[in-house]
Amino acid sequence: MIFKGIFVLIFVGLINAEKECGKSESALKRYKSQIGSGKVELSEINQPFEATGHDWPWMAHYMKCSSSIIGQKWLLTAAHCKDIPVAAIVYGSDDRTFGKVAEIKTKYPHPKHQNGIPGYDIMIVELQEPLEFNENVSQICLSKTSFSTIPETKSILTGWGKLFKGLQYWVNTTFTHRITNDDILFEFTPILHDKIVHFREREYCADLKADMICAGGIGEGSTPEDSGGSMMTIINDKFYQQGIIAGGDMFTVAGRNDIYEDHGYYTDISQYCDWIKEMTKGDVECEN
Ligand SMILES: *[C@@H]1O[C@H](CO)[C@@H](O)[C@H](O)[C@H]1NC(C)=O
Ligand SMILES: *[C@@H]1O[C@H](CO)[C@@H](O)[C@H](O)[C@H]1NC(C)=O
Repeated sequence: MIFKGIFVLIFVGLINAEKECGKSESALKRYKSQIGSGKVELSEINQPFEATGHDWPWMAHYMKCSSSIIGQKWLLTAAHCKDIPVAAIVYGSDDRTFGKVAEIKTKYPHPKHQNGIPGYDIMIVELQEPLEFNENVSQICLSKTSFSTIPETKSILTGWGKLFKGLQYWVNTTFTHRITNDDILFEFTPILHDKIVHFREREYCADLKADMICAGGIGEGSTPEDSGGSMMTIINDKFYQQGIIAGGDMFTVAGRNDIYEDHGYYTDISQYCDWIKEMTKGDVECEN
């Protein structure tokens, strides 16, 4: 009986270690006090934080996109990244030049996603071999609960997006108008960045689909190649992925060439828990 008891304890311990999600002491220290409340200050949003080593052990680079590990064989990214000819992901390090490589087996973009059309922007990626979880590699938590998106409250973004350096010289900043990626000067970086973003009224994002969350503002939001990255919140000291970075509309801020305004779109993961469970054959389940 005693032996059996010990065996059960060890077994349960192993399962828990495997299923543990959303743990990062360094990221928690940086963001715990900020999440949920308080208006975002321009100074804090203008400066994305450079991750240091292993702040985000569930993040994986997906060529020109970002992705998150949701199970040992499974990743989550944006469906609009599906045509990127990528055969492997890079994981295990915030600076991807030091990352490890894992081969992709199959991509499952949401079947209703259409190129160039917002909505259903979610894709599951199956790996050839399961990842070995350790202090530097783990999974993010998912939840069926749709977390609060009360306007003005804060969330966290992370991705391997480029760094914003300024607007191109040809952009006329005397008035507010829409701009594209080509109008912006970006700098390449191999290092994962994280930043605060705040939720907005749904009307702020024109044509927001029912499966999307709206967030952003002046000087805050995602940049190219953040796509597929994580929008996260903190519950009981664990990080939960709430959204997938899907895109944004960018506008000039009159009189400023050092900043722009982003109306950002994020796929609401809580609406896709059944689909995630189905595609991962029950391997990945959202918590209640
Ligand atoms: C995790 O990363 C640290 C620092 O890069 C390294 O020293 C350590 O060996 C890594 N742990 C594992 C299990 O790979
Ligand atoms: C910028 O736009 C304003 C308003 O349309 C216009 O008056 C001005 O000449 C433009 N400036 C340049 C440099 O194109």
